[in-house]
Amino acid sequence: MLSIDGLRSGYGKSEALHGVSMDIEAGTVVTIIGANGAGKSTLVNTVSGLVPVMSGRMSFEGRDITDLAAADIVDLGIVQVPEGRKLFGPLTVEENLELGAYRSRSVKASEIARRRAFVFELFPRLAERAGQRAATLSGGEQQMVAMGRALMAQPKLLLLDEPSLGLAPIVVDRVFDTLAKLKGDGMTMLLVEQRADMALAIADFAYVMATGRIVANGPTDAMRADTRVQQAYLGEAGVFEG
Ligand SMILES: Nc1ncnc2c1ncn2[C@@H]1O[C@H](COP(=O)(O)OP(=O)(O)OP(=O)(O)O)[C@@H](O)[C@H]1O
Ligand SMILES: [Mg+2]
Repeated sequence: MLSIDGLRSGYGKSEALHGVSMDIEAGTVVTIIGANGAGKSTLVNTVSGLVPVMSGRMSFEGRDITDLAAADIVDLGIVQVPEGRKLFGPLTVEENLELGAYRSRSVKASEIARRRAFVFELFPRLAERAGQRAATLSGGEQQMVAMGRALMAQPKLLLLDEPSLGLAPIVVDRVFDTLAKLKGDGMTMLLVEQRADMALAIADFAYVMATGRIVANGPTDAMRADTRVQQAYLGEAGVFEG
């Protein structure tokens, strides 16, 4: 579904990804694990068209997306739940959700209502708080809004950048329950997570990143058995470097 080949990208003249290749099959969940600064967000943001490509190629459903603008990438069905949620604090839950569908100007009000009903069914808590300003929600509720907003765009490929960041353990469990539900519905997902244990439990395939490169990849069962990955779980940063 998504194919990335020799991707280099970065900020200004400074290259952050040094030739990343990755494939995501439709209907699978792929996770990227790696230490702080490894380039996980840069990769997700490059796929989303937010960080410029220096060289290499990306294609989605057979179509070259390397030089597409972010808005056009969303239109194709690649939708991101960004690191740190990035909600519009003064707007309500419902207004934030509607912004997710806004790209698709041609979408009828009835279709938006149908998608909203789907999001409220997935997150009943948001239905209760539809009129509340996003800034006043708990961290877990904000993450629900961020995920709901992405789902309002009806993604084919959902990119999730650290959905568990800063959340209490019980709330993290709920986020992963939701991801499991979406996976059960057949949603294709690229999941960036520092909680490697949980990410490997839900994903089919994993890539390990260090300093802008893929340093290991494989089916999650094999990756869990990899002692280097086990050491990385325990926080021994740098086992894949040097
Ligand atoms: N906006 C930016 N401008 C310049 N450099 C950046 C920018 N964002 C990230 N970088 C650099 O790119 C590299 C990769 O950062 P990135 O945010 O992709 O890592 P990450 O794996 O997502 O880390 P984390 O786990 O902390 O979220 C780092 O060296 C970082 O300093
Ligand atoms: Mg990041």
